Amino acid sequence: MLRKRDFLSLADLTPVEFNEWLDYAFALKREWLAGGNAPLLQNKTLGMIFTKPSLRTRVSFEMAMRQLGGHAIYLGPEEIGLGKRESVADVARVLSRFVDGIMARVFAHSDLVTLAENSRVPVINGLSDASHPCQALGDMMTIYEHKGALKGVHVSFIGDANNVATELTFACAYSGTHMTLGCPVEYQLGPDVLAKAQWIAAQTGGSVTQINDPRTAIEAAEVIYTDTWISMGQEAEAAVKMPIFMPYQVNADLMQYARPDAIIMHCLPAHRGQEITDDVADHSNSAIWDQAENRMHAQKAILVKLLK
Ligand code: CP
Ligand code: NVA
Repeated sequence: MLRKRDFLSLADLTPVEFNEWLDYAFALKREWLAGGNAPLLQNKTLGMIFTKPSLRTRVSFEMAMRQLGGHAIYLGPEEIGLGKRESVADVARVLSRFVDGIMARVFAHSDLVTLAENSRVPVINGLSDASHPCQALGDMMTIYEHKGALKGVHVSFIGDANNVATELTFACAYSGTHMTLGCPVEYQLGPDVLAKAQWIAAQTGGSVTQINDPRTAIEAAEVIYTDTWISMGQEAEAAVKMPIFMPYQVNADLMQYARPDAIIMHCLPAHRGQEITDDVADHSNSAIWDQAENRMHAQKAILVKLLK
């Protein structure tokens, strides 16, 4: 029997695999738009563990399973009590006797690792404090659709170098884009993530640069991406973080320094009036809603690659 495969971070893929997954996501999207997907996951069930709220991840995974002929079970915080009612390892041991795959949204990334180590079936990262790989795969679809290319495209991430920024950086590195992060000194990518992303980019002809000035960071950008300054679970840090991040707000003032054709991206949920203003989020250059849709198409590829 082949060893089951988990998907906890894009950093676990090779550049070739990354491109294969992306191509497959586009193929499944085309098939869906042409009338529907083949039932590749018939009789397969995905168990979905959520320890935090979700709109996009929950619904896009559920619809992806349904459209591929399978089924998804939502397991919210009250039902599972991951690590509280029952140990993380025991949840994995039991759940993986029932289902064909587990998608989990957790606080500590180490909980995903424990789930993966104790599960007989593939474990997919639906967001941890460290990373959000499913988001990044869908986002690369969106950039390609809007810009007609990935290699050589200039992408900027402005704000908190968080879970979303981490996987976006890996995805950009695999794609050969030129990625610039404009983040406060206190909230930059860690040295390990930066070094790994730069190592990947060196193989693909891309680049990853980290600076602190948001204006300089967006000057060449064809894609400007931001996310919340206060990720789920960080609410107690809001008073400290808010003044540090205000100069990083993506608003009309900052956009004066951007190319007129730069698209705006945000993984959502948006905290309008904080990291992004209404006029920017709702601008005709906004690709935000396409991003949300592409979550579903990207996840179909992930699900078939791992569960079929
Ligand atoms: N972008 C994203 O993961 O959204 P949800 O938190 O609604 O799932
Ligand atoms: N960085 C955000 C992403 C939400 C999808 C968070 O972790 O809350």
